[in-house]
Amino acid sequence: MTPRETIAILDFGSQYSQLIARRVRECHVYSELLPSHATAERLRSGNVKGVILSGGPASVYESGAPRCDPAIFELGVPVLGICYGMQVACQLLGGQVQAGQTREYGRTRLRIHRPDTLLAHLPSETTVWMSHGDIVTAVPAAFDTLASTDGCPLAAVRHRERPVFGVQFHPEVTHTPGGEQMLRNFVYDLCGCRGEWRVGNVIDAAIEQVRARVGPAQRVICGLSGGVDSSVVAALLHRAIGDRLVCIFVDNGLCRNREAELVEATFRGHFQIDLRVADARERFLARLAGVTDPQQKRLIIGHEFIAVFREHAERVEGAAFLAQGTIYPDVIESGHGPGGQTAMIKAHHNVGGLPAELGFELIEPLRNLFKDEVRLLGEALGLPEALVWRHPFPGPGLAVRVIGEVTEPRLRILRDADEILLDELHAAGWYRRIAQGFAVLVPVASVGVMGDGRTYEGQNLVVLRLVESTDFMTADWARIDYAVLATVASRIMNEVRGVNRVAYDISTKPPATIEWQ
Ligand code: XMP
Repeated sequence: MTPRETIAILDFGSQYSQLIARRVRECHVYSELLPSHATAERLRSGNVKGVILSGGPASVYESGAPRCDPAIFELGVPVLGICYGMQVACQLLGGQVQAGQTREYGRTRLRIHRPDTLLAHLPSETTVWMSHGDIVTAVPAAFDTLASTDGCPLAAVRHRERPVFGVQFHPEVTHTPGGEQMLRNFVYDLCGCRGEWRVGNVIDAAIEQVRARVGPAQRVICGLSGGVDSSVVAALLHRAIGDRLVCIFVDNGLCRNREAELVEATFRGHFQIDLRVADARERFLARLAGVTDPQQKRLIIGHEFIAVFREHAERVEGAAFLAQGTIYPDVIESGHGPGGQTAMIKAHHNVGGLPAELGFELIEPLRNLFKDEVRLLGEALGLPEALVWRHPFPGPGLAVRVIGEVTEPRLRILRDADEILLDELHAAGWYRRIAQGFAVLVPVASVGVMGDGRTYEGQNLVVLRLVESTDFMTADWARIDYAVLATVASRIMNEVRGVNRVAYDISTKPPATIEWQ
C-alpha cells in the first residue's frame, strides 16, 4: 500500500501552525506538523507531496534564529513559505530580510500582479491578514513578484526555476477570504495532490491495525470518561475486536446529572459493550472531605482514580492493552516541548503511569486526528450527538467547580444549576456555538430577599462561565443573548434551593483560566 499523500508543515512556532494543518486537511489532504529542523532525508521517506514552512516569532537575521534544511528546496516538491517561513525560504535562496518601515497587523489590501499558480482564481485585489514586523526587501532575479501591499512590495513571490513560493500574509486564517483558494491551488495544482483524505477512511485502517496487534485471547481495556475522545476510541475498538474490549467507567461522584446514565445507556445498552462501572462515589467524597486547596483536590482525585481503575483493570483476564484517547494536539504539544520530539502520554487523561505499572501496551487510534476530525469519526461510528458534541470536561470534574470544600449538598446544588444552564443553552441553540459552558458554585453568603425576609443562611453564588475558544489556550467570554442569560438565572434562582445570586463571568484567558480552579 502506498503511504497516503502528505503535506509536511515545518513548525517555526507560529500560533497558527495547527491551523495550517487543519486547513490542508479540510482540502482532504493529510498533513503533519514536524519540527522546523526536520531534514530533507526525513521528508523523503514519506509520500510528501509538498512542504509548508509556517510563521514564527523569531527574526531570520538574528543569530540562532531557526532555519530549515536547505536541501528541502532540492526535494523537487513544491514549498510554500508563510510569513516567517517565506522569509526563511527567501533568505536561504539569496534574498534579504529586514525590519519593515511599518509593522503590518490585521486586514490589508493585496494587489495581485500575477493571477496564476498560487494566486490563480482570485480577484486582482483582495483582503489578506498580516501579522509581521520584518519583510523580504530583496530577492534574486530568479524570483517573480506575485502580489504586493502598501507596506510590503514583496507580499507574495515565486521562484522561477524551483517550485518555491512565499506569502507574507496568512492564508490559513479566516480573515484572509481568498486563503482557502490559495491553499487549494497549492495542494491540488502545484503539489498534484488528489485529495483522498477522509476521516471515514481512518476507521478501516485503524480497525485493521488493532486486529493485527491484539491476539485472539487478548483483551483491551478502555477507560471511559464520558468525553468524546475516549467514547470514540471505545466505539472504534468495539467494531474492531467486539467483546475482547472491556470498558471501565470510574464514577467518582463528580459528574454532572445524568452523565453516568448516558455512558451506561450508550455503551452497555446500545453497543452492548462489556462495561464495568466502578461506583467510587463515596470513596472520592471521603478523601475530599475538608480539602479546599485546588491543587490538593486534583492530586487526591488523580491518585484515587488510578487506584480504583487499577483494582478493576486487574480483574480483567487476559488484558494486555490499554486504549487511550490521545489526539493529535496532545502529541504535537509534547513533541515540541523542551524534551525534544519524544511524544508523551496524555497526562491529564488521568491514566498516565498506568500502562507502565500494569505492564499494558498502549493503543492510541486517534493520535493523528484533530478534535473536529474525532467528532466526525464519532458521528460515523454512530455515537449519540450528546457524546460527540460534548464540551470538554476536566478530569477532576465538578470538584474544581465547587469552590472550597466539596460536599454532596454542594455538588447537588451545582449539578442542578449546571443542568439548567445546559438545557437552556441547548434549547436556545447556543450549545454548539460556544466552546465550553458551565456553572461554578461559589459558596459565599450574600444578602438576598425571599418572600418578606432577608436571607443569608445557606445561600450561594452561582457563576456562569461561557467561553469561545478554538484551542483552549486562549478564550474569550461568549457574547450570549441577554434573554438566554435571564432565563437561566431566573430558573436557577427559582428552582435550585440554596442559590440567591447568579453572576456572569466576563474574564478572558489570559489572564484568567477557563476553569475557576
Ligand atoms: P483552563 O482552566 O486551564 O482550561 O483554562 C483549559 C481547558 O482544559 C480543561 N481542563 C482540564 N482537563 N483535566 C482535564 O482533563 C484537568 O485537570 C483540567 N483542567 C482544566 C478545561 O475544562 C478547559 O477545557
